[in-house]
Amino acid sequence: MAYLSAYLSLFYTTATMQFAVPFPTATVDYHLESNFDELHRLAPPQNTIIITDEHVWELHQERFRDYRCLKVPAGEAHKTPETILDLARQLVSLEAHRKTSLVGVGGGMVCDITGFLASIYMRGLCFGFVPTTLLSMVDASIGGKNGVNLDVYKNMLGIIRQPKFILHDLSLLDTLPEAEWSNGFAEIIKYGCISDPRIIQTLSENNITFYKRRPEQLASLIEAAVNVKNKIVNADEQETGVRRLLNFGHTAGHAFEIRCKLSHGQAVALGMIVACMVSEQVCKLDPQETTRIISVLERYGLPTRLEFEPASIMEVLRMDKKRNTDDVDYVVIEKTGKACVKQLSFELIEQNLVRFAAADHH
Ligand SMILES: NC(=O)c1ccc[n+]([C@@H]2O[C@H](COP(=O)([O-])OP(=O)(O)OC[C@H]3O[C@@H](n4cnc5c(N)ncnc54)[C@H](O)[C@@H]3O)[C@@H](O)[C@H]2O)c1
Repeated sequence: MAYLSAYLSLFYTTATMQFAVPFPTATVDYHLESNFDELHRLAPPQNTIIITDEHVWELHQERFRDYRCLKVPAGEAHKTPETILDLARQLVSLEAHRKTSLVGVGGGMVCDITGFLASIYMRGLCFGFVPTTLLSMVDASIGGKNGVNLDVYKNMLGIIRQPKFILHDLSLLDTLPEAEWSNGFAEIIKYGCISDPRIIQTLSENNITFYKRRPEQLASLIEAAVNVKNKIVNADEQETGVRRLLNFGHTAGHAFEIRCKLSHGQAVALGMIVACMVSEQVCKLDPQETTRIISVLERYGLPTRLEFEPASIMEVLRMDKKRNTDDVDYVVIEKTGKACVKQLSFELIEQNLVRFAAADHH
């Protein structure tokens, strides 16, 4: 992926895989293609506490043996204020103080709770992330959003605050279940659709097994994905404009996730197909591009068809809006790599959901 070096050269500070991305409020040090041992230098054990979940602890505890470590039960159901309070009390027992750093070692759930806890404990501690899922490497650890769910409301309590560093050790992915690889690829495909057609081209030539066997290719792909998210977040940290492009596939996707008991990645994959169909109608996306995106989703183990009731999905979409209007801000693509937000009527979205429910992509 020769194009990557040119694209990334703007950000590199050294010839190694470290680069600093300036944000309006903070600078995040990236250590991609690094090694877990590097954590000793970035966050020395004597003043660092690691937060992780029980799965990651069971699989990788050897790596944290020098650190004090707090564990939470794994899974979205535990991304709650109760978990935060429980951890805060444990920090008090460990006599954590203003100079203590927290490091989240885990998937997006662990990154979210670590960033949130670190931001509010004693009005703010330093924190860093070692993401251990593909999704958290390319998405959840980046952008400074940290939060927890409140009852049924996702990410209702939270804060925007950047970590001091993000460290990738790709060997942590060796234990990742196949379904979690697919979830991560859904977001990478999204980045390709909205901002970087070269990602879609590369993905269309490879598959999950290829990336598992070739860490250097996986690292290049992750860098391209990290770059897309950073470029967008950098331009709009507080989500008033361009950051909304990251919601491509997430409007219908969120409704599919709630109503059809799908993982987030599966739901977003299906949401992206609906968004492509809408894009064909409102900004003349070439249907062949939709076909190519569908085949890339299939290649990475993501669903491309679903039996569902459009009316029940529309119900969630209207609820999500929380306003009594007839239209919705919807992310569409004019072509692969070029996205924009359009105000569209619910009626038009419903027509496309009906089309999608009846579609046979094969
Ligand atoms: N803050 C943001 O900007 C942002 C963006 C996207 C997603 N998120 C959040 O991220 C979360 C989803 O992230 P996720 O998909 O990483 O989920 P997750 O953190 O729940 O991890 C998924 C599963 O994989 C396990 N796991 C983690 N690393 C592993 C490894 N190396 N080997 C084996 N198993 C491992 C976890 O224990 C868990 O069971 C959601 O809470 C979502 O809201 C946040």
